[in-house]
Amino acid sequence: MRVGIIGTGHVGLVSAVCLASLGHRVVATDDDDAKIAMLKEGGAPFFEEGVSDLLADGLDGGALSFSTDPADAISGARIVLISVGTPPRVTGEANLIAVERAARTVAQHATGRCLVVEKSTVPTGSAGRLRQTLAREKLGSAELQVASNPEFLREGEAVQDFMNPDRILVGADSEWAFATMRELYAPLIERGVPFIETSIVSAELAKHACDAFLALKVSFVNALARVCERSGADVVDVTKVMGADPRIGGAYLRAGIGYGGSCFSKDLHAFERMTSQLGYDFPLLNEISRLNEEALQSTFEKIKDLLWNLADKTVALLGLAYKPGTDDARFAPGLNLARLLLDEGATVVGYDPRATASAKVAVPSLLLSGDPYAAANGAHCLVICTEWDEFADLDLDRIMHAMAYPIVVDGRNIFDPNRMTSLGFSYHGTGRATTESASRRS
Ligand SMILES: NC(=O)c1ccc[n+]([C@@H]2O[C@H](COP(=O)([O-])OP(=O)(O)OC[C@H]3O[C@@H](n4cnc5c(N)ncnc54)[C@H](O)[C@@H]3O)[C@@H](O)[C@H]2O)c1
Repeated sequence: MRVGIIGTGHVGLVSAVCLASLGHRVVATDDDDAKIAMLKEGGAPFFEEGVSDLLADGLDGGALSFSTDPADAISGARIVLISVGTPPRVTGEANLIAVERAARTVAQHATGRCLVVEKSTVPTGSAGRLRQTLAREKLGSAELQVASNPEFLREGEAVQDFMNPDRILVGADSEWAFATMRELYAPLIERGVPFIETSIVSAELAKHACDAFLALKVSFVNALARVCERSGADVVDVTKVMGADPRIGGAYLRAGIGYGGSCFSKDLHAFERMTSQLGYDFPLLNEISRLNEEALQSTFEKIKDLLWNLADKTVALLGLAYKPGTDDARFAPGLNLARLLLDEGATVVGYDPRATASAKVAVPSLLLSGDPYAAANGAHCLVICTEWDEFADLDLDRIMHAMAYPIVVDGRNIFDPNRMTSLGFSYHGTGRATTESASRRS
């Protein structure tokens, strides 16, 4: 099937390379000409496991191409996926200008019977607006229909998630639209992936409901961590008990310094704005965001308490990407922590296996190290901000001897407290008892 994709970001590019690998003929476009030039040469504009290989396969085999001219992606396509950004306005509302622009472009270049699909996360009711723009701007005789196909992939595991999703959600209002989307995902449906059909408005709302509920789990467990720290309970043990109950489930029950990234925070604010515009007050949504900020703030207070004055102190941050497996540092908790520490006069040195370049752009006064040991060198405190696998395998003895004070704040609970104590660290997990070594150096 001929598929056009508008927007080659984390969702659009992953969709493009995966759909090409599933046997479709995909042409993707983006208004960032430099990005398209890079993609044409086989270069991926961001790190995501598996994307580079699938990109090379798609380009070599001819199933995948890129163009700065949207007409190349849209004319002749049976499906056009709109996967442009929907960033927040200052009010929290989603800014849908890129979606409207994409719809205008589709209306001008579409031919034949074409299904225009919202892949971007948009507020409930956006399909109506999309349909309106398509009708107003249509130039030719194309028959345009609209569907919603929200994306649930996680950065860091995006290819794996796209190819093996828990479910495929399609909102549409015609049997032709559902049948077209079933054909798009046929290889996955044949493997048993559930294909859920709903109205368009339910699909749009379901995406927001899923993101808000996952963020709620994270914020709940982070608040629980505060209670554990005050009561002497261990949040790792408490969440193990909770997760063993299938009604609760163990996923997203890991205490830490809060969620980041371009989705949870943005989508929560957009959801909250949407519900209030619908006349329903849903204060829980604001509380989820507040608890997320509290998780970061309490980590900052912990560091401050441990170091007394932050001026003249060096803090090493391990993990600057908002999660492992990506170089995306948008709204990364580690970077927000760096800003708080820098504001109080600390010297902050960061290390990340993938995200140093984007981190430096976001926080220019952050110093960067090429490896975790160099970051720890002379540091008065080391903080784990992102749970990259390689951090669990660090030579901790080497880290301890490199540091000025052997203080570790484990914002992701990747280390065993007893082991850290026996190595001589002053160890501070999240939602766990603090452990001090008897043979502490300072
Ligand atoms: N990143 C994720 O993990 C994720 C997961 C699920 C859903 N989403 C949603 O998918 C959407 C896209 O997210 P993303 O992370 O891929 O964003 P992104 O910022 O990585 O990419 C957006 C791309 O769209 C391009 N673009 C913007 N306006 C355009 C236009 N008018 N014409 C052509 N190209 C245009 C940009 O240049 C950019 O390359 C958002 O609504 C987001 O909430 C994201």
